[in-house]
Amino acid sequence: MNSHHDNIRAVAWRDARLYLLDQRLLPHRQEFLAFETAAAVADAIRDMVVRGAPAIGVTAAYGVVLAARAAFASASSDWRRVIEKDLALLAAARPTAVNLCWALERMQGAMKDVPGDPESALLHEAVRIHEEDIRANRRMGELGAALIEQPCAVLTHCNTGSLATGGYGTALGVIRSGFASGRITGVFADETRPWLQGARLTAWELVQDYIPVTLLADGAAAWLMSQGKVDWVIVGADRIAANGDAANKIGTYSAAVSARHHGVKFMVVAPTSTIDLSTPEGKAIPIEQRPESEVLSLADQPIAAEGAAAWNPSFDVTPAGLIDAIVTEKGVVLKPDTARVAALFDAG
Ligand code: MRU
Repeated sequence: MNSHHDNIRAVAWRDARLYLLDQRLLPHRQEFLAFETAAAVADAIRDMVVRGAPAIGVTAAYGVVLAARAAFASASSDWRRVIEKDLALLAAARPTAVNLCWALERMQGAMKDVPGDPESALLHEAVRIHEEDIRANRRMGELGAALIEQPCAVLTHCNTGSLATGGYGTALGVIRSGFASGRITGVFADETRPWLQGARLTAWELVQDYIPVTLLADGAAAWLMSQGKVDWVIVGADRIAANGDAANKIGTYSAAVSARHHGVKFMVVAPTSTIDLSTPEGKAIPIEQRPESEVLSLADQPIAAEGAAAWNPSFDVTPAGLIDAIVTEKGVVLKPDTARVAALFDAG
């Protein structure tokens, strides 16, 4: 893959600190914040400095390195007990993206047998998680783009790119690969109210990487499909249940319903770290409710009638029956159901 279409990294470990590109300021300002404590990392995840399921997982892994450093400095023989509080803070930062708990479990595995000061062993594991995520994204990019039979335009929702992952992206990774190979001729992006991940982040990321993008209001997606302007909707996921039901940014379900109605194919792209086999179906996925203020205001300016309340679920669940393909780094699951999702893991 040409690096021409892959130039952004939002999570970095440098000089013994964690740096996060502050996504709340994009697209107007590009500023990295430095982090030295796990509590500050947990706040950054909750407050959306960093967001996107895989990026949250990678960030939490680096947060554990910071937690271990502090725990070992305060109680060298008892650091595994002291670190528990920070692990709990990180785990509670956001509820829907399962990559967060997945990454914490990987780090806890690495904590088990490490002798003496754990920092370098845990940093090694965090870097592995980060690099594996980028490799998985590149593989999913190839697999997902290969499903697109003839050159076409696609629609995406939210931001699933380098900003939302260790790098390259899930759905946006497929879009990067598909654009580079000529299978994808154009990208429509929902603006993604209320947080505007599409308008602020996806549009910025694609412009930075020389991929033309056309924004639309979320409510225009069904009409776009009715005009025959896109052949595929390509999205990411925050958690996929064992039966293939997929939680993703609010508005994804509407896009899936519209896609089926109009004969447009629907692709979910996510690493296996997003698949939660312990959650049997979508109904059991915890859905994060975010503050009413995100709906009632825009860029800190009130936009709604004073006195109105707001309902602000951050995610919805698309039933597996509306999904044509789930693309993972281990392979593609067509028409997902419990047996087909399980087979992905049986294959090794
Ligand atoms: O609330 P966010 O911005 O963290 O939500 C992100 C999404 O819903 C993404 O689509 C999802 O995490 C997949 S990203 C690779």
